[in-house]
Amino acid sequence: MSDKINSKITGTGSFAPPRILTNYDLEKMVETSNEWIITRSGIKERRIVEDGTGPSDLSLEASKIALREANLEPDQIDLILIGTVTPDYLLPSTACILQDKLKAKNAAVLDIVAACSGFIYGLSIASAFIAIGQYKNVLVIGVETLSKIVNWEDRNTCVLFGDGAGAAVVSATTEEKGILGTFLSGDGSLANLLHIQLGGAKVPLTKENIGLKQHYISMQGNEVFKSAVRAMEGAAKHIIQKVGLSPEEIDLLIPHQANIRIIEALAKRLKVPMDRVYVNIDRYGNTSAASVPIALDEARKKGVIKEGSNTVLVAFGAGFTWGSAVIKW
Ligand code: UT7
Repeated sequence: MSDKINSKITGTGSFAPPRILTNYDLEKMVETSNEWIITRSGIKERRIVEDGTGPSDLSLEASKIALREANLEPDQIDLILIGTVTPDYLLPSTACILQDKLKAKNAAVLDIVAACSGFIYGLSIASAFIAIGQYKNVLVIGVETLSKIVNWEDRNTCVLFGDGAGAAVVSATTEEKGILGTFLSGDGSLANLLHIQLGGAKVPLTKENIGLKQHYISMQGNEVFKSAVRAMEGAAKHIIQKVGLSPEEIDLLIPHQANIRIIEALAKRLKVPMDRVYVNIDRYGNTSAASVPIALDEARKKGVIKEGSNTVLVAFGAGFTWGSAVIKW
């Protein structure tokens, strides 16, 4: 026990839409092969939402599970933070829509646009608000319906992404455990390596430019790959050192699930053996902000995370943004 207010995760939940799109399905849609996708990315299948289902719907399912586990009622939530680049609407935020669906009537509401790092940005903001005593219970979500913003004719991107949601309840505690530290960073000078050019306020979508198909994700994959490995290595090492852990003391590494080759390269550089790295990219593909919280929830539910163990979360995404966190359970 201490006088300092710490933050700990008291419940997690995740939800992926039931519809599965396999690599074999994709072979019929673009010039690709199951073998190429597996060897280059590690992905076998991904989940895709039905039309009419929004990120707020996926978030609602994941949040209900997390709240149940945390033993909290929705009106006990002080703040809802949603990391997403695929909001239900441009206005208002998806956090507002979820607040209403969840009946979390006492919660402040905020979306975080930090792409694949959105959930870790959310954890960091949640623990900062808790540390200053402003909030006690924060619901942090990472959710995406990337299937709505990929060009299904572009094999460079459409084989990689998927839909889903993960949620965590972060609560104040005086115990000497929980979120031991977080680290956030970014580099906007590399924005054009992974972006959507059209459809924002600077270049709105028009009848004339819609045919350019630049309102979908465009990515220079191999450049992003190199930056992802470098930035996640730096972010993980920084936070591990800051909280005073050695690589041997990391019981589980949960990296953003963008590519199995990125994950393996990262694990090697961090000297963490692959049997201590959580991988589910084969089943979901890259779900951007949802990838870390879905993996975290699965790892908890499978009993991979034990009382007292140390988990390192690390992510990298468009922006570029990156971040890391260490959690002691
Ligand atoms: O979540 C945010 C962060 N995102 C990431 O971290 C993603 C990072 N990037 C990657 O994961 C990888 O770069 C990719 C999986 C996107 C691509 O793998 P790569 O080994 O970097 O391949 P490449 O882009 O260098 O392409 C190699 C070849 C090219 O053909 P040529 O020029 O060698 O003839 C591509 O046209 O593979 C071709 N190719 C494909 N072939 C079959 C690209 N996409 C496909 C495809 N199926 N789907």
